[in-house]
Parts: sequence; structure tokens; C-alpha cells
Amino acid sequence: MGMKVLVIGSGAREDALSWRLAASPSCEAVFAAPGNAGTASRGTNWEIAPTNGKVLGARCKAEGVDLAVIGPETAIASGVGDRLREAGIATFGPDRSGGRLESSKIFAKRFMERHDIPTARAVVVHSLAAAQKALDEWSGPCVIKADGLASGKGVVVAADAAEARGVLEEWYGGNRVPGGGADVLLEERLEGRELSVFAIGDGRALYPFASACDYKRAGDGDTGPNTGGMGAYSPPHGFPNDVDSQVQARIIAPALRGLLAEGERYVGVLYCGLMWTEKGPYVIEFNARFGDPETQVLMPRINGDFALFLKSAADGMLDPGAASLSERSCVGVVLASADYPRTSTAVPDLPRDLALPHEVFAFWGTGSGRVLTVSALGDDLSSARARAYEAVRDLTQRFGSATGLTFRRDIALITK
Ligand code: AMP
Ligand code: GLY
Repeated sequence: MGMKVLVIGSGAREDALSWRLAASPSCEAVFAAPGNAGTASRGTNWEIAPTNGKVLGARCKAEGVDLAVIGPETAIASGVGDRLREAGIATFGPDRSGGRLESSKIFAKRFMERHDIPTARAVVVHSLAAAQKALDEWSGPCVIKADGLASGKGVVVAADAAEARGVLEEWYGGNRVPGGGADVLLEERLEGRELSVFAIGDGRALYPFASACDYKRAGDGDTGPNTGGMGAYSPPHGFPNDVDSQVQARIIAPALRGLLAEGERYVGVLYCGLMWTEKGPYVIEFNARFGDPETQVLMPRINGDFALFLKSAADGMLDPGAASLSERSCVGVVLASADYPRTSTAVPDLPRDLALPHEVFAFWGTGSGRVLTVSALGDDLSSARARAYEAVRDLTQRFGSATGLTFRRDIALITK
């Protein structure tokens, strides 16, 4: 009998995961909690909040779920991994403790310092007075990061100490530190190109699995406000030939040594958000989960039995042969409501069957904000890009004027 798999979350990332899992030979049924329109077409949605570990655990037991896959960081940070494992459910996604690599930027920074993982130099402050003192001695640009989870709103890249001072006065003065705490990191700005690398943890080891590039700003040419992500492509382009071995030696191996030394059984994705600098890879951030929208361009590249792959990791011994990444390229373009990320107005219903061409996929987000990710495979980046944008043009011609969907026009556009 096949496996029953639960995907926790409700974004396009979770739709892409449930699509790939449902297509796995060993998978018999897919559930999503709470899921969205896309996951409903691939399996069954449960009306349970993604942070409600107790109820999720009980329902998994009742339904005979063999594997739970956690999508969002909020679920990890609220201990859903701990609750599911207590209930005896094989779970892909770390416990709350391992999740601190994402949920506390200060914890992550200290972890990197303890284990010699290259990262931007930083100071931690807890008050405006301390921040001002640190800025008195600051030269150059300053990246300001609120400690806790703030859905991408907790980071400001300031051009100099004066601009940083303004931001911190507003945060502390107005009691408006994103995430609601008082702990803030001030760090040097790294220069280079960004790259997301995904390693799979099974509690004993970390296996580098895939990498991708994403686009966080709302506007073409990386302008406008930060968003949850407007597009992505994979594999990355324009990095040195020895990217994988450098990332393994400088980031993943010391991270694994650190996790083991600290008694952390890390099961799930360790997402390494990297800046490729003149001196090689530096960590900008760790996340404890799959990326969004990177997942929407990774899932179409996966061959083999992805459900078995994640189950083997959740069981404590990854079977690396269960799934692999194809050599092909994938480009994903996010279609968002017109005023995203400001208000995320609801978008009129689109038909469930979008009648897309071969090797073009649409992954549903929630009903507002990031509505769809349109991903296309190709033999190389430019053909994948052409197919993705052809599909986007076709969709916006068919539905765009009615819905006001917008998108970036420069995803995977390689200019140098
Ligand atoms: P984070 O939430 O930590 O991923 O930060 C959001 C974005 O801010 C990153 O994707 C980078 O573009 C930028 N950023 C964060 N930290 C740094 C840094 N130390 N140097 C340069 N850019 C940074
Ligand atoms: N793609 C950025 C993130 O998932 O955090």
C-alpha cells in the first residue's frame, strides 16, 4: 500500500510540494492543511491551522498519515515538528529547536560564529541607546535585522549610519521593531550575487540537494519594496564552476558539525541564503524550510520518488538515490495582485484548469497577493524563460484585464 502524505501550509510552495508528492510512485494520497485551490485539486484539504501541532498530530493518527512535510516557518517555530513526532508521525521539518536557525537571527549569527561559517560581521543591540552607540563607530552601509520572524519585513539595508539611525529611531521610538521584540542585529553589507542552496537533513547528515536564484523585490531591476518573492530560476547561472564544492566545504560541512556538536537532530531542509562575494560564499540567512518561490522551480526538475526521498530523511536515513534533479532548467514567474505587496486585494476566481502547454505548470498561492507561480521547464535557461513568459502572456491575455494581475518581466533575464 502506498503512503499517505500531509503537506502543511497554504502557499504556492505547498502546492508545488503536493503536486510532486502526489506524482510519486509510493504516494497513495496527499492531504494539505489548510491548503489552497491547487492542493484541493491534488488531494484533500484539512481545515486546520498550520501552527496547530496538537490537532494536526491527532488528525494524522486518525487518517493513518505516513509522512508530514512542513512548509512554513511559522509552523516550525511554533513546534509543529515536535508535536507531530511526539504523536509518532514521521515528519520532514525540524523541531522548534533546530528551527531557531531561522526564527532567531541572533541565534543563527552566534551559531555561525561558533562554527566558523562565513557570514557578515554583526553586533547585537537591545535598545536605541545601544544602537546609537554602535552606529557612532559605524562606517559604510549597515543592514538592520529584527531578531524574530517578520515575514520579510524585518530587514532594512541602509546606505550609511545616518540612514540606519533613522530606521532604528522609528523602530524603537514607535515601539515598532518588526516581530515585536527588542533585539536587533546590525551587520555589514555584503557585496555580490545571491544564491539559495538547499541541503536535506536526516538528523545525521546534511546532503546538498539543489540550488536556485530568487527575486525578492517587487519591481524590475530589483527596485521597489521587498516581497515574499516574485520569481526564481534553477539551476543558478553565472557562478564559479566549483560552487558546489565551495558551499559544501565552507558552509554545509561546518553547519553539520555544529548541529551535531550541539546535539541537534536536524531533519528537514537547511536553506542557505548565500551572498557570493569576492571571497566566496557568505551566509546572509538560514531558513529551516523550502524556499518560496524556489520550490516552484525545483519540483518540476525532480525525477524519481520524492515522497520516498523525504520519508527516508524523516525516518533518519536519507536514501539519496530515491530522487534526483534533472539537468534541465526551470523558470518560475509569480503573478500577483496589482497592488502587492501593499494590500494584496483579492483576485476574482480563475478557472481551476488553466489549460497550460506541456512542461508548463501553475502553482496556486492564496486568493490574494501572490496568486500563481507559472513555472516552465526547458533544455536551457533561455528556453525555459521563453516558455514561462509565453504562458504568462497567454494567461494575462486570457484573464489579466479582469484580474489586474502583475508580474516582473526580468525573471531569469541574464544580462552579463
Ligand atoms: P533576509 O531576510 O536576512 O534574507 O534579508 C533579506 C534580504 O536583505 C536578503 O535577501 C538580501 O538581499 C538583503 N541582505 C540581508 N543581509 C544582507 C547583508 N549582510 N548584506 C547584503 N544584503 C543583505
Ligand atoms: N525565497 C525566499 C524565502 O523563501 O525565504
